[in-house]
Amino acid sequence: MSNAAPATEGQDRSDGPLHVAIIMDGNGRWAAARGLPRAEGHRRGVEALRRVVRAVSELGILHLTIFSFSSENWSRPATEIGDLFGLLRRFIRNDLATLHRDGVRVRVIGERAGLEPDICALLNEAEELTRGNTRLNLIVAFNYGSRQEIANAAQRLAREVAEGRRDPSSIDADALGQYLDAPDIPDPDLIIRTSGEQRLSNFLMWQAAYSELVFVPTHWPDFDKATLEGAIAEYARRERRFGGLAAKTGS
Ligand code: FPP
Repeated sequence: MSNAAPATEGQDRSDGPLHVAIIMDGNGRWAAARGLPRAEGHRRGVEALRRVVRAVSELGILHLTIFSFSSENWSRPATEIGDLFGLLRRFIRNDLATLHRDGVRVRVIGERAGLEPDICALLNEAEELTRGNTRLNLIVAFNYGSRQEIANAAQRLAREVAEGRRDPSSIDADALGQYLDAPDIPDPDLIIRTSGEQRLSNFLMWQAAYSELVFVPTHWPDFDKATLEGAIAEYARRERRFGGLAAKTGS
């Protein structure tokens, strides 16, 4: 995701977002409220994800980024980490053919190093199979942390300088943005976080510079097309100025 001009810059503010990013929060609380194990909350979270991928496609959104596993999630109990990895495996094995049929291109951002080889193989398979699809980019942030992503980009620039291939004065926001994990994807117009928490938690911090943030009280397993449409309606009421002045209203 680059720091180039946001894809929707200049659009009428009633226009919908082209890139929606979601922090899928509240699986554990959803389960606890029902006396169910946390794993059941995550399982129902995958069902919500299926619904939302369909809804996003129907609404003409071109890019959907989801926060599936953060670099901080390693601090959870090993059993829960195992559950989350198991769900990812099953999601790719069971849903990849459908995603491909529906024109979804799967992209994965985050650190691959340290992931189990079969997980890496599945992520690669999903990316390879769907490479030519154009209806929707589904960007899965897996083992992802924004600070690390930015640090990796800085490291690549520093190496070019050290090897004499780059002048330090050429390092600007565009140059760094080109070394983020998905530089060709426009910045998110709308970032939704479910479950009432109001923070970014190391998600797309560079790319979120001008994103509209919408926080909904719904726990992720209950998220559906209507909740998504509610968040988009809230987005449509916002006036995006990108640091400039308010749009003229006539006269
Ligand atoms: C937050 O709920 C959610 C996660 C840590 C992971 C999100 C994962 C899924 C929706 C399922 C897996 C998806 C894929 C593609 C494998 P939480 O556990 O932090 O909830 P809590 O804050 O209520 O405890």
